[in-house]
Amino acid sequence: MDPRAVAITGGSSGIGAALARQLAKPDVHLALLGRDPTRLAGVASDCQAKGAVCRTATIDVRDTARISAFLAEFDKEHPIDLLVANAGVLDGRRADQVVEDGATARRVLETNLLATIDVIHSVLPGMRARRAGHIAIVASLAALNPLPDAPAYAASKAALLSYGLGLREALANEGIKVMVACPGFVATAMARVHLGPRPGEISSETAAAHIIEGLEHDRSLIGFPPIPYWFSRLCLLMPEALRRKVTRGTRFHVGT
Ligand SMILES: NC(=O)c1ccc[n+]([C@@H]2O[C@H](COP(=O)([O-])OP(=O)(O)OC[C@H]3O[C@@H](n4cnc5c(N)ncnc54)[C@H](OP(=O)(O)O)[C@@H]3O)[C@@H](O)[C@H]2O)c1
Repeated sequence: MDPRAVAITGGSSGIGAALARQLAKPDVHLALLGRDPTRLAGVASDCQAKGAVCRTATIDVRDTARISAFLAEFDKEHPIDLLVANAGVLDGRRADQVVEDGATARRVLETNLLATIDVIHSVLPGMRARRAGHIAIVASLAALNPLPDAPAYAASKAALLSYGLGLREALANEGIKVMVACPGFVATAMARVHLGPRPGEISSETAAAHIIEGLEHDRSLIGFPPIPYWFSRLCLLMPEALRRKVTRGTRFHVGT
């Protein structure tokens, strides 16, 4: 795994920014996408200091036309070896709600799921023509363990897991690799809106290192840290009453 042209959505912060910094080196071209121009510029400056050439775009990931146009132009100049589809939001029930409202659920699914699929389709034609490329989809351990406090978030990540593994199989003979990454709790800006316990939280640098290692080994699916990953997998198999009991201590609500 020695990508020369990398596009990262959600490159302005957290896991995406840590990945950009770890992949940055001379002769690497990075396309960093996000909404916050100041934070994007800060990440780009760190990457440039390591010798990478950076291009940034402040575009809402749901703006499919602008995202596709930006990625197509970048791909024309620097054929994308690695796409990290990482942008995402966490939203769910507020302290005074039993369940998140419908508008919240829709926004989460549009951002985390539909926009991610659109981003992938923006780079697929180029990768297919070259019969080369690697796609990393950042899902979550929530893909494996339904969240009563953020059901749409968990659903978006479960759908990404299924989508990514299906895509990997579909593209297996096209020279394109796909990996789904399922992080547990990571200390990023997202943590600030998750008001509740965050057992086993790791740094964004550690999360990025796990993702790079998974790509290097061409894994289909990675989950980390190991104990929360296996706990989440087991949870899915448990009878409902037992799952409710063992996950009671991880209930949370979302703050603004
Ligand atoms: N932190 C965790 O505990 C955790 C656990 C499991 C999975 N994940 C997943 O990891 C990924 C990265 O999250 P993070 O933890 O690094 O959180 P973060 O620091 O909040 O980063 C989220 C990134 O997504 C971008 N983003 C969000 N909504 C967007 C939109 N509508 N249009 C364009 N960009 C948008 C943000 O850009 P701007 O800030 O510039 O708007 C930011 O760069 C997400 O998919 C998240 O679900 C996180």
